[in-house]
Amino acid sequence: MKKNIAVLPGDGIGPEIVQEAVKVLDAVAKAYDHEFNYNYADVGAIAIDKTGTPLPEPTLKTSLESDAVLFGAIGDPKYDNNPNAKVRPEQGLLTIRKALGLFCNIRPVKTFDALLHQSPLKEERVKGTDFEMYRELTGGIYFGEKKLSADKNTASDLCQYSKVEIERIAHKAFAAARKRRNILTLVDKANVLETSRLWRRVITAMHEETYSDVELRYLFVDNAAMQMILAPNQFDVMLTSNLFGDIISDEGSVIGGSIGLLPSASIGETHALFEPIHGSFPQGAGKGIANPIAMILSASMMLTHFGMDDESTAVRNAVVLALEKGVCTPEIFPLNNYTTSDVGDFIANIIS
Ligand code: IPM
Ligand code: MN
Repeated sequence: MKKNIAVLPGDGIGPEIVQEAVKVLDAVAKAYDHEFNYNYADVGAIAIDKTGTPLPEPTLKTSLESDAVLFGAIGDPKYDNNPNAKVRPEQGLLTIRKALGLFCNIRPVKTFDALLHQSPLKEERVKGTDFEMYRELTGGIYFGEKKLSADKNTASDLCQYSKVEIERIAHKAFAAARKRRNILTLVDKANVLETSRLWRRVITAMHEETYSDVELRYLFVDNAAMQMILAPNQFDVMLTSNLFGDIISDEGSVIGGSIGLLPSASIGETHALFEPIHGSFPQGAGKGIANPIAMILSASMMLTHFGMDDESTAVRNAVVLALEKGVCTPEIFPLNNYTTSDVGDFIANIIS
């Protein structure tokens, strides 16, 4: 198969981890006789430095014209603590999500047996954790009207959802549950928020009409945050709105022992983007210590999206082997001295 992939390395450790994902994809292309063409483009702080905007027009065009986007990470400390910054790297990510219509963000939280001892939680609680978070990505408070009063003393962010926005992601989440352990947990704040009550009505109706074979559970987000720590292995598919999903997916990401392990897929009707959950880790840039596994697993999700299931599984299996053999960066195996590119080499070699 021939695929055009837009590669947006971004900031901080982004370029280093993207390089390893491309190395692994090249190994896949060779072993399975595919052709992957990579079209590189700038996004984030580096794009602001070069052009004044975090998502320059050519980057958007390349992304729109590609079969998928491989996205590294964005963010730079010089913007983080400056509420008056006119442009921010994060706007690049939000704009591309909206422009590509990527309403469905999938974040799998699956622990690796070889790393259970790394988890901040007790091993017996974490064991067997394998759930997928479906986070709505192009609506809600992230994209509602923002206001700041003339005297700058009052501000608001509107949280708005429509039935259509809820239904289109819920279809994907119900379908995912059917292929897994058949449980869908809707995470919301329906005891307080009108938007959450709309989510409940819409999801309950869909459940009755089309998905009654799936077990539907409801959980308030504050309770969900607690349950994820108490018994993360109770979840199968979680479905939630943009902001709640942002927060609890970071919580989910450390359950397995390192934030450097978790990939994500952002899917729309016509486009798809794959990125690790972690940020740009600027302090780690250029040192060869960034864990490339979340990025490599994001590439594996991209292969699944292309219908290349065997290839995707081969990448995942190679990652599991690397972790079993202790081949990973210092935050996981501090004594083993493997660099970012050693980890990529090891995984690519297994595939080729
Ligand atoms: C994420 C990130 C983004 C978000 C930021 C960088 C805009 O935290 O993908 O979870 O809040 O969605
Ligand atoms: Mn986040």
